Amino acid sequence: MCGIVGITSNKPVTSSIINSLRKLEYRGYDSAGIATLYNGLIDEVKCEGRVDNLEKNLVNKNLQGNVGIGHVRWATHGVPNQVNAHPHSSERVSIVHNGIIENSTLLKKHLIRKGHNFKSQTDTEVIVHLITEYLKKNDLQNSILKMLKRIHGSFALGIIFKDQPDLIVGARRGSPLAVGYGPKENYLGSDSYALKSMTNKISYLNDGEFCILRKDHVEFFDENGNKVNKKILELSSSEENYDKGDYKHFMEKEIEEQPITIKNCVNEYVDKANGDINIYNFPWKTDEVSSIVLVGCGTAFHSCLMAKYWFEQLTSLDVTTDIASEFRYRKNRFKKDTLYIFVSQSGETADTYAALDLCKKNGMKTCSVVNVVESSIARDSEFVLPIHCGPEIGVASTKAFLGQMLVLYLLCLKIGSIRKEIDRKTFLDKIKNLSLLSKLVKNTLTTETQIQAICNSFTDAKGSMFLGRGYSFPIALEGALKLKELAYIHAEGYPAGEMKHGPLALIEDGMPVVVLAPRDKYYKKTISNMQEVIARGAKVLLITNKSKDEVFSENIWEKIEVENISEDLLPFLITIPLQKLAYYTALKKGYDIDKPRNLAKSVTVE
Ligand code: AGP
Repeated sequence: MCGIVGITSNKPVTSSIINSLRKLEYRGYDSAGIATLYNGLIDEVKCEGRVDNLEKNLVNKNLQGNVGIGHVRWATHGVPNQVNAHPHSSERVSIVHNGIIENSTLLKKHLIRKGHNFKSQTDTEVIVHLITEYLKKNDLQNSILKMLKRIHGSFALGIIFKDQPDLIVGARRGSPLAVGYGPKENYLGSDSYALKSMTNKISYLNDGEFCILRKDHVEFFDENGNKVNKKILELSSSEENYDKGDYKHFMEKEIEEQPITIKNCVNEYVDKANGDINIYNFPWKTDEVSSIVLVGCGTAFHSCLMAKYWFEQLTSLDVTTDIASEFRYRKNRFKKDTLYIFVSQSGETADTYAALDLCKKNGMKTCSVVNVVESSIARDSEFVLPIHCGPEIGVASTKAFLGQMLVLYLLCLKIGSIRKEIDRKTFLDKIKNLSLLSKLVKNTLTTETQIQAICNSFTDAKGSMFLGRGYSFPIALEGALKLKELAYIHAEGYPAGEMKHGPLALIEDGMPVVVLAPRDKYYKKTISNMQEVIARGAKVLLITNKSKDEVFSENIWEKIEVENISEDLLPFLITIPLQKLAYYTALKKGYDIDKPRNLAKSVTVE
């Protein structure tokens, strides 16, 4: 989850590299750095913290050169400081790296014995000295090949060389890497997003490949050094509005965008005229599928869990879910009639990609639900369902969560309809309800004034619990995750019915507890669970939907009522107050909303 950029051009590259690093900061922001080659000398400037600090360090240093590399870091080996920031350089090469070199300790000992001096605690620096060692007796390409065969683990690399005035080498194994094509210059980047402001002509490296960029041409090679031809993709040149506009934070903007993103996604998939859902050309017959496994991480896993309830309710399919980092090491029972669905906003999450790769190696049916259609997970799935949310920059996922749930719900309706397990009337009713969702989400967004007042009781809380049953349980998990990752408050999402089996002991006087109890089939049971926690002193924030019936319970501290819609769609609405609760609590605590500590937007390492 670091960000890499490289540019080789007929003009100075420093400012373009800095601009790209700003776009990459969502991938990691512990430290940053840049290196260029000028008059046969490699020069580098690095900093701890954000790209702003790098710019400050550049003020007193006129970094020249028409070829350079840059990096924003999410620390894996070595504390986040200037020394450990990338690039890492020797007198002959400079390197930026995203990934983990798993045999770095052994290689470091070997290189130290050969007289190499290490400055940093990083695994990356091993590559610098390894290539420098190989260059003593090999030409550039053979040095690269030898290095690639020697290092184990995952990497995306950008490398410049002292004696190669206009050349950048890129290499990929496990971490994404893209090449961009410009007028009299070419680019290397962790993803298309980093390059989109400079070009929409992109090629992607596959695992094991490396490339040699010059300002006027690019060559690709496989792991044996054989030339490889690459398609040049023209990405949607619609330069979506990547900036925050009038909002203080990307997360705030992305919460407020949800009515639009829901509407766009419904319009993409729902064929109102024919009363159908535009999901066709499955690469398999739906009667060949009798079970589904949904796999994801974090928020994406929560949308998988939500989909499980819908598939169980609306079809006869067996449905299980798994967290990708568990799935990839489990002794899975791979069966031909199982469809594996991978959910990932970025499409680059290493654990989710590894789970996909494992299924493909076992000949399984694979489908992915992603926001970034050019991503590795999308490119390597048999069938891709985009969520059409536009770039989600805030590390805490909001609009993508609703988008993932929406696409999974549409897929469930489509498959249930094809299998004739959802009758035509039910199918049409559900499509009609979906057309109401955007407006109801918009109306629900207006709860923020009430929420801003409620936050005060969360800012000083030692911990909190989020309780829900059935459709509300995945949302309870998601609400707890939001509060954890934004306000750094321990919060636990829990099945409401499970509290009496232990966690009730956690309830202390004045502890804020969020209870999700929309008036669905689980309502009465959940209200009983709510009364159990109130009786033990909890301050309960009840999230339910509007109704003329009063909630039959006293001592509810606060209540938020969302709009009414069919109970299987209420999860979309009860999520909104939880997103805002986490946002405003973090805001009151003065924390970084878009880049919370220790996190990154796309976790491209294990
Ligand atoms: C969500 O708010 C978190 N940032 C995190 O859990 C995220 O959902 C997870 O890392 C999965 O990311 P992906 O959807 O890009 O695969």
